[in-house]
Amino acid sequence: MQDKITLLDNKRIILGVTGSIAAYKAVDLASKLTQAGALVDVMMTDAAQQFVTPLAFQSVTGRAVYTSMWQTDSSGGLPTHIAHIGLGEGADVLVIAPCTANTLAKIAHGLADDLLSVTALAARCPLVIAPAMDGGMYGSEVTEFNIRILKGRGVMVIEPDEGRFASGLVGKGRLPETPALIGHIRRMLGRDGALRGKNIVVTAGGTREAIDPVRYISNRSSGKQGYALAQAALDAGAKNVTLISAAQHLPAPVGATVVPVNSAAEMLYAVLEHTPNADALLMAAAVADFTPEHVATQKIKKKDDSSDAPTLALTRTPDILLVVKKRREDTGFPRVVVGFAAESEDLLHNARAKLERKGLDLLVANDITASDAGFEVDTNRVVILDTNGGQETLGLLSKAAVAEAIIGRVAEVLRR
Ligand code: C5P
Repeated sequence: MQDKITLLDNKRIILGVTGSIAAYKAVDLASKLTQAGALVDVMMTDAAQQFVTPLAFQSVTGRAVYTSMWQTDSSGGLPTHIAHIGLGEGADVLVIAPCTANTLAKIAHGLADDLLSVTALAARCPLVIAPAMDGGMYGSEVTEFNIRILKGRGVMVIEPDEGRFASGLVGKGRLPETPALIGHIRRMLGRDGALRGKNIVVTAGGTREAIDPVRYISNRSSGKQGYALAQAALDAGAKNVTLISAAQHLPAPVGATVVPVNSAAEMLYAVLEHTPNADALLMAAAVADFTPEHVATQKIKKKDDSSDAPTLALTRTPDILLVVKKRREDTGFPRVVVGFAAESEDLLHNARAKLERKGLDLLVANDITASDAGFEVDTNRVVILDTNGGQETLGLLSKAAVAEAIIGRVAEVLRR
């Protein structure tokens, strides 16, 4: 079961499904959107019903499925003359996934000869189209022309994936997987949010300090809170979200630019490169405080006939926030800086001192001794401190909810 997603909760989504084998993937999309809290009304073209049944969608959405222009209300849904206008009017977004070359062409040119195309013409909500087509149809001149028309009208056209088609051919035209589709839908729904037009930089994960070509020193940070912050900034409509990431194996949020780094020194370099016009920097990364003084160029070997072990000499890493503080005094950017404090004792006292010393607008403090908060787990328990002496204690929340609260506070500081 997927968690509720605040941005999708109670949103009215019309999901148009057209005649592509990828229609089976739309069942999963409808299911995940519903689990995220959205109210999903599915409309299927005749061709779509050759691949999957209306019952499949009805089963996962728990709502009536619309299949015909001439439907009466006996199916439990709205009679169609109301459906195509009424559903379209009340919707937050109309998503067509998968969208065949035929439906795409009809919508580009205003043809309206079935329920879905009539609805697309009548709807005043934003439109998201995920083309899916076999062979050379996606790259064809006429489809490209139609896509340009749609984009010119503000329609979001999701780029299909490359890979193997049902026909056995290989090319571009596959429907992206559900998490990617949901990421694009979130982007559309969040576009007028509190961070609209803003440039946001987030760091995430624990840095890795090399000892030799195969070994490193790191920490238990998973990067989950940082990735959740990037997603929350995207949901709030940020124009650019740069995620400077030392985390491993986490899926990149759709719309974020991920800059992978290893060491604290690399992270400093990346932060300085990406923040000259940043509205906010959120330093969620667990940056190493110490790094090996020398990195061995070859793997350090043990001697078979001895129990000797090498001694590792460490040196301090640069404090990224202190470097940022200095630059911000000169340039005014980043406009807002948020730091994080993971403490195991005297949480609030240490956090307040850190807020002042590092010149932060907000400091998010968490007690890493709690088993349900901090490193690796999906939940967190934080206190947000500000420069006015304010202190907001959030109870046990998902990292997504913590991220939304922090992003809300950042938007508030930016408004001031
Ligand atoms: O001083 P401390 O490491 O506890 O501060 C934590 C905050 O400082 C975090 O926001 C972390 O990303 C940042 N930090 C930094 N450079 C370091 C160490 C930590 O910017 N070398």
